[in-house]
Amino acid sequence: MLKKIVLCLLAALLIGGCVSEKEAVMSKTQSLKDAYADYFLIGNIVSGVNMDDVHYTILTSHHNIATAENAMKPQYLQGTKGVFTFDEADAIVNKALSQGLKFHGHTLAWHQQSPAWMNEGVSRDEAVANLTIHAKTVVEHFKGKVVSWDVLNEAVVDNPPNAEDWKVSLRQSPWLTAIGADYVEIVFKAAREADPAVKLYYNDYNLDNSNKATAVYNMVKDINERNPDVNGRPLIDGIGMQGHYNAHTNPGSVEDSLQRFISLGVEVSITELDVQCGEGGKQTDAQMTAQGLTYAALFNVFKKYAEHIGRVTMWGIDDSSSWRKEACPTMFNDALNPKPAFFAALDPDKFIAENSGSVETKEVKQSVAVYGTPDLADTAAWSQAPAIPIDRYLMAWQGASGTAKVLWDENSLYVLVNVNNAEMNKANQNAHEHDSVEIFIDENNGKTPYYEKDDAQYRVNFDNEATFNPASAAEGFESWASVSGRTYTVSLKIPFRTITAKEGDVIGFDAQINGASAQGARQSVAIWNDLSGASYQDTSGLGVLKLMKP
Ligand code: G3I
Repeated sequence: MLKKIVLCLLAALLIGGCVSEKEAVMSKTQSLKDAYADYFLIGNIVSGVNMDDVHYTILTSHHNIATAENAMKPQYLQGTKGVFTFDEADAIVNKALSQGLKFHGHTLAWHQQSPAWMNEGVSRDEAVANLTIHAKTVVEHFKGKVVSWDVLNEAVVDNPPNAEDWKVSLRQSPWLTAIGADYVEIVFKAAREADPAVKLYYNDYNLDNSNKATAVYNMVKDINERNPDVNGRPLIDGIGMQGHYNAHTNPGSVEDSLQRFISLGVEVSITELDVQCGEGGKQTDAQMTAQGLTYAALFNVFKKYAEHIGRVTMWGIDDSSSWRKEACPTMFNDALNPKPAFFAALDPDKFIAENSGSVETKEVKQSVAVYGTPDLADTAAWSQAPAIPIDRYLMAWQGASGTAKVLWDENSLYVLVNVNNAEMNKANQNAHEHDSVEIFIDENNGKTPYYEKDDAQYRVNFDNEATFNPASAAEGFESWASVSGRTYTVSLKIPFRTITAKEGDVIGFDAQINGASAQGARQSVAIWNDLSGASYQDTSGLGVLKLMKP
C-alpha cells in the first residue's frame, strides 16, 4: 500500500512537474536497464521526434537501446523513388545517442509501410535494384550510429503447412512476387556490403508457433550455410522474436523456439515485447496480475538464455501510446505509473512468489468416448455417447455454439458435432473464418506447448470442406456434413496416427466452433475446454477424453 501511495505521489509530481522528471523516476523505482545490466540490453520504441519529456524520461531511465516505431520504415525514408528523407529519423537517432542510448534500425524490407513503386508493376531486375539501393543507402546513412538492423520483417506466413520447405512458407509479399524467394538473401547481402560492422537480423512475430519457428529456422540455416564470410560469420547474425504476446501465451513455447534459434549459432533478441491483457483500455486487478505473471515467466526464460540474447525491447512506453492500447499491453499505465508488469519484469521471482496463488489454475474438463464404428451419415449411432458442450467463448461476441459426441475404435476417433446459430458463411479466404468445426487431438495426452507427431487439428466447414494442421493429418480422414436452417451437423472420422487405441486410453481432445459473420469474418469462437486460443499450436490446454466400452 505504501508503495502505491509513493507511486501515486510520484505520478502527481511528474505530471505536476514539481520536481525534475528524471530525478523523480530514477529515485523511486529501480531502473529496468540496471537490473538487467549483466544480462542483455533493455529497449523500447521512440514514437516520433516530439515524444514529450515524461515519456522520454521513462525511456532514458529504464532503457539503453531504442527503436523508431515507424520513422525508419521504407515509406518514411524513401516514399518517392530516389528521394531519401532522413530528417525525422536523424533527429530521433541523434537525440537518443545524445542521451546515451544505443539504436536499432527497423526495418529495410517489409510488406507493410513500403511504397508500391519499389516492387509493384516492375520487372524483377528493377525490383532487385530498388531493394538493393534502398538497403545500401539507408544502412550507409546510419553507419556508426545503428548497432543492428531488422533487415527483413515478417516474411514467413503464420503456421505454415509445410514448414520444412522455407521457400513455400514465405508470405506472398510484393517483394516475393516481384523477385522470388532469393529476395531474402539479396537484401541481407546488400546490407552486409553497406556496413559489415552492423548486426543483421531477421524479425518476425508468432515465433512461439512451432511450425512458423521451423520455417524461420530452416530459412536462416540454409542461407547462413551457403553464405559464411571469410571468418565464418553468418550473413544473418540474429533472429528477432517480436513477442507480441497475451496472458495465455505459453512461455514454454517461447523457450522452445529460443532454444532452436540459439542452436543455429545466431544471436536472438526479443524485439517488440508486449502482453495484451485488457479490454477497452481498461484492466481489472486480476488481469494486471495475470499480465505480470506472464511478463515474469517470460523474463525468467530470457534470463536463462541471456548469453545468447542481445536485447529485450518492449513495443511501447505506456498503454496509451501503444499500437494495441485497448489491450493495455505495456508496463506503464496511461498516467505513466509503473504497473505490476513493470515490477514483474524488474524481479520476476519476487513477483511470482507474491502473486502466483492469486490466479486460478487451469481447469481441465474430462469426458468419455464410447466404443463403436459408425456410418458418418447415421447420426443416431452416437446416441450412447455423452454430450460434450462447446460453449466457452474466446471472443467478445458469443455466436455459434453446440455439442460434440465421440465414438472410437482401435483405428479411429469418430466425432459428431451439432452446431446452432450459424450464418452458413464461408466467404473468407481463411478457412478458420468460415462457419466451421475444429477438432484438436493429442494422442499421447502429452500436453506439450508445441505440436508433436501425435498432435493434429482438423477443420470441417458447414459445406463439408476439410483443412488440416499439419497437412499430413489428411491421410485417411473422412467427413460428412448436413445443414438445416441456422443449424448444421458435421461428423468426422479421424484415424489415429501413432496409436492403436484400447479401452482405458486417455487422449487430449478439444472441439471448437468458428462462427462467421454475414460479412465473412470470424466473429465468434466457442470451445469445450482450452481458452488459450493457442490450441492450433499448443496442446497443453486441451481437455481430456477417456476411451471406454459400454
Ligand atoms: O503517418 C500517418 C499520418 O500522417 C496519418 O494522419 C495517420 C492517420 O491514419 O496515420 C499515420 O500513419 C500511421 C503510422 O502507424 C504512424 O503513426 C498508420 O496509420 C498506422 O497504421 C501505423 O501503425 C504502425 C504499424 O506498425 C503499421 O503496421 C504502428 O504505429 C506500429 O507500432 C506497428 O509496428 C509494427 C512493427 O513495425 C512490426 N511488427 C508489428 C508491429 C505492430 O503492428
